[in-house]
Amino acid sequence: MCGIVAYLGQRRAQPILIEGLKRLEYRGYDSAGVAIRCADGMHLAKAVGRIMMLENEAALRSCDAGTLGIAHTRWATHGGPSVENAHPHTDASGKLAVVHNGIIENHSALRKLLEQEGVVFRSETDSEVLPHLFAKYYRGDLAEAVRQGLKEVRGTYGIAVIHADNPDALVAARNGSPLIVGIGDGEFVVASDASAIIAHTTRVVYLEDREIVTLTRDGFSTSTIDAVPTSKEIQEVEWDLEQIEKKGYAHFMLKEIYEQPESLADTTRGRIDIEEATAVLGGLRAFAKELTRAKRIILTGCGTAWHSALIGEYLFEDLARIPVEVEYASEFRYRNPIIEDGTVVVAISQSGETADTLAAVREARNKGALTLGIVNVVGSTIARETDAGVYLHAGPEIGVASTKAFTSQVMVLFLMTLFLGRRRHMAHHHAVNIIQALTRVPDQVRDLLKQDGHIEEIARTYKDRENWLYLGRGYNFPIALEGALKLKEISYVHAEGLPAAEMKHGPIALITPDMPVVFLANRGLQYDKIMSNIEEVRSRGGRVIAVATEGDEEIGSHADHVIRVPDVGESLQPLLNVVPLQLLAYHVAVMRGCAVDKPRNLAKSVTVE
Ligand code: G6P
Repeated sequence: MCGIVAYLGQRRAQPILIEGLKRLEYRGYDSAGVAIRCADGMHLAKAVGRIMMLENEAALRSCDAGTLGIAHTRWATHGGPSVENAHPHTDASGKLAVVHNGIIENHSALRKLLEQEGVVFRSETDSEVLPHLFAKYYRGDLAEAVRQGLKEVRGTYGIAVIHADNPDALVAARNGSPLIVGIGDGEFVVASDASAIIAHTTRVVYLEDREIVTLTRDGFSTSTIDAVPTSKEIQEVEWDLEQIEKKGYAHFMLKEIYEQPESLADTTRGRIDIEEATAVLGGLRAFAKELTRAKRIILTGCGTAWHSALIGEYLFEDLARIPVEVEYASEFRYRNPIIEDGTVVVAISQSGETADTLAAVREARNKGALTLGIVNVVGSTIARETDAGVYLHAGPEIGVASTKAFTSQVMVLFLMTLFLGRRRHMAHHHAVNIIQALTRVPDQVRDLLKQDGHIEEIARTYKDRENWLYLGRGYNFPIALEGALKLKEISYVHAEGLPAAEMKHGPIALITPDMPVVFLANRGLQYDKIMSNIEEVRSRGGRVIAVATEGDEEIGSHADHVIRVPDVGESLQPLLNVVPLQLLAYHVAVMRGCAVDKPRNLAKSVTVE
């Protein structure tokens, strides 16, 4: 989620690190920092904001000569964007410096342990446990200290570590967070992303999970965290910079659709307590009592976030048995809402900056409600102005059309359902079933993505149609809305989403052989009703694209096209069903020549009311 660059060689490290950070900035970062080893010790410079701000730091200019250094651009996950929370983090002596990407799942336990041993923490980050842990094991051999420390760490990481007393050693390791070693002529550039390397060399080694590399001025060696030596093949990077930023995908939106198996796993990482069958949501802990006693929850947001709120309504009412209302943030703000004792207002927002949603939060707070945020961007205004909240941890979302943030919002709502439900009426065994199903979702999404080619063909068939309908019932109704929104946002085609039963009250008049109708037709409680709706469309010549359950043979004879998804039960179905609809919208937009990542008239973050 963040960016790492590290250098060991004969040249001045500082300009190489700064240039590398700039290459990584395309992902939208909020703070940055550099540590350079100089003859008089470790020099550290950090700044909030763009890399430009870091360049202005006097501390950075004070160490010009060092040829060993590490640097980091942060996209906050634990602790807001601030100088204290920016990397590199150091140990108590200030000699050992670490940059880290990823999430340390057991950071609270490690922090407690280290504090008992007398360590004083200076930031709110999960990452700061690493320098203290490595320092604890440091006896002159940096790689050995890192290896010992990492044995105690649970979670994901890409790290680079240096020590003031080791002018010739750079140690890096990865587990679930990419790290690439660029091998130049008498120098090494390590980075989380090839874009920061290829200005210097195209020869690289890709680290594997649980692998650690020690770079010295004489060469490099790799081993597993358990000290088993590994042998690496040097490879050539073939992409150009533009391709690398998008990791080879044609658009950020496509990249973000494909990132969903990982972003969903990141959203749940470290947040499930399987023993107690509940969710561990650190941000809500202090308000657990108030939430357990809540009489009513109001979910609010705009656009895609409002659609996830609708799913939240089904989840909270169905599984946690709390009355819920969903309200467009803009409407909530101006209708003089009634907030009574026990009302909790939950604002959902990817950016955390949407003006309408922020205004709703302020209105709710002024009226005395407990306010919570479900936000992706750490330290954003909504995150700061709500009483508590849960971050998505989905990573930066660049494409204007929200994809991975949406699925992570739904995932967080699931976690909150467990958190609230288990404190209210949800039985242990019921929660265990939900947790088991939730943990399978990332792999199921990965499998679903394999149907991309099939979905592209469907898009080709209908790309020139100007009107589409999306229909679903129950948990699938918000997905119908979201599918239609994706299509209209990026392909400028008119699309409407509806509860399937509503079609007969008006929209059925629109149906002609020119009209593609997307049905969310999974097997379940309302399957027969959906089949009747499909027949109503077919008998008027409409074309039917059905998202249906794997193994449902019947649907084939009713629909023109079938996209198959696994049966995960009513409540979880939205998380899978939305993925093919994201792809369908994407392909239609590409085929119509639209600017997918920057659709006309739209902005990623709408900060005006
Ligand atoms: C804009 C974007 C949408 C987004 C909405 C809410 O309209 O184009 O994609 O869903 O804002 O944004 P938020 O950052 O609050 O989730």
